[in-house]
Amino acid sequence: MTDRECVVLLQWAAPRLRLRWEGFRRVRGQVCKRIGRRVKALGLEGATAYRARLEAEPAEWEVLDSLCRVTISRFYRDHRVFDVLREELLPTLLRDARGRGDSVFRVWSAGCASGEEPYTVAVLFRFGLAPEFPGLRLELLATDADEALLARARRGCYPPGTLRELPTEWAAKAFTRTAKGEQCLAPELRDEPTFRCQDLRAELPAGPFHLVLCRNVAFTYFAPPLQREVLTRLVERLVPGGLLVIGAHESLPEDAAVLERAAGPLPVFRKPTA
Ligand SMILES: C[S@@+](CC[C@H](N)C(=O)[O-])C[C@H]1O[C@@H](n2cnc3c(N)ncnc32)[C@H](O)[C@@H]1O
Repeated sequence: MTDRECVVLLQWAAPRLRLRWEGFRRVRGQVCKRIGRRVKALGLEGATAYRARLEAEPAEWEVLDSLCRVTISRFYRDHRVFDVLREELLPTLLRDARGRGDSVFRVWSAGCASGEEPYTVAVLFRFGLAPEFPGLRLELLATDADEALLARARRGCYPPGTLRELPTEWAAKAFTRTAKGEQCLAPELRDEPTFRCQDLRAELPAGPFHLVLCRNVAFTYFAPPLQREVLTRLVERLVPGGLLVIGAHESLPEDAAVLERAAGPLPVFRKPTA
């Protein structure tokens, strides 16, 4: 299947999965390769035959959906966002939580891939925040629609390149290098997140959360009406004053729920307290 055929197929199929083709434009290589392999495995001629298969067999849509997940991630991705969380936003949020008598800091990573994002929060909390907030316990939920990625996340071992944005002193404390060259998380950090398989389009955890990270998933790949629906549900799950973080290249749907910017141009938003 040529790149052009794959693009035309994605442009046709994405809206039927409540996705938007534009989200895939820059990263379609991974997705097109998978679709190409699927077409071959089915013994089909190419994109046109695959489209006919989709129209004839509704179950194939689920397969295509699973082939459309982009899995790229890394620790401390968009370091400026995590820096401002660590230095300003989370200390304020945690002081307020402590003032209200809360003993638990609740975080949700939605679309957590192989765990790089929730483990970043675990590392940041342990080494950057917990010393100043000894009475607060982190409760960390991480969800993704892909079981294979979640299995990788639970294992907690990574190629060294995925750690390149993580502050080096934290990387040294949190990881051990194995004989095979992988970097594996210390068991006490690996135990921090609860990983759960959930499709954001259908099911969301109850919350409420102090911090929700929904980066490079909904606001890149979902169709605009679905983005608005998901945003409303995310905001419902934030405590007043809670923070929503989206991807560095994403923006929120304009006419959607009222959130205020929490860190200038950085993609961090706060739910108003009143
Ligand atoms: C590009 S990764 C982003 C990972 C991480 N949030 C980050 O920004 O580094 C997107 C992740 O979202 C997951 N995903 C895609 N569609 C999803 C859906 N409908 N529900 C839940 N997770 C989804 C994919 O499986 C993938 O792991």
